[in-house]
Amino acid sequence: MKIAASFLDIKEPIVEEVTKLSNLDVDYIHLDVMDGIFVDNKTYSYEEFYDITRFVTKPKDVHLMVSDVKKYIDEYSNMKPEFITFHYEAASEVGSVINYIHDLGLKVGMSIKPSTDVSEIIDYLDYLDLILVMSVEPGHGGQSFIEDSVRKINTLKELRDKNNYNYLIEVDGGINDVTIQKCGNADICVVGSYITKQNYEEAIKKLKNYWHIFKNNIHYRYI
Ligand code: DX5
Ligand code: ZN
Repeated sequence: MKIAASFLDIKEPIVEEVTKLSNLDVDYIHLDVMDGIFVDNKTYSYEEFYDITRFVTKPKDVHLMVSDVKKYIDEYSNMKPEFITFHYEAASEVGSVINYIHDLGLKVGMSIKPSTDVSEIIDYLDYLDLILVMSVEPGHGGQSFIEDSVRKINTLKELRDKNNYNYLIEVDGGINDVTIQKCGNADICVVGSYITKQNYEEAIKKLKNYWHIFKNNIHYRYI
């Protein structure tokens, strides 16, 4: 299980705090890009995100919660992130967006909101490097985990095993030391407020610890 740390709710001094977070035992730094149109919240501009993450050494995981998908892909591809993830619900031509990101030499993630079922995206599964299951309504940190997300994660894992697909499964929203234990079939957990509202290092240790205890003791596949 890898952790992508989201700094959506981090407090000033933001550059120092994001740098500190990135130097801890996290695998990715997750950038929540919101345009105020696709979701009812707006985050930083590209220039501001670039500035805030200028000392980040971990790979960047860009989560675009925007309507004008290609415009943002053009901008964010410049920071050479590990993944650019767009929302299925925002793209009118999903196949062309996938090709667009791949043609820029980057890995493609596609995200689904809580109301979108895995059955709606079956045709795209073979072309994706990552699928992001939103376990809260996109837009804000600090919300409660939606339980139905576990079923989606497990379905995606079954489909991957059965068809030899290559995508990673990522889950985002409401992850803490309890909900992480339900996400055994996810490869990456995005964690925001659980880490940023307490001592970062201790929070990360607790997450990893709970994860290991859980994995060693329970047959998580069948939860
Ligand atoms: C929500 C964002 C999440 C959010 C996670 O729209 O995509 O990445 O920051 O925050 P927590 O972990 O607080 O739910
Ligand atoms: Zn996110």
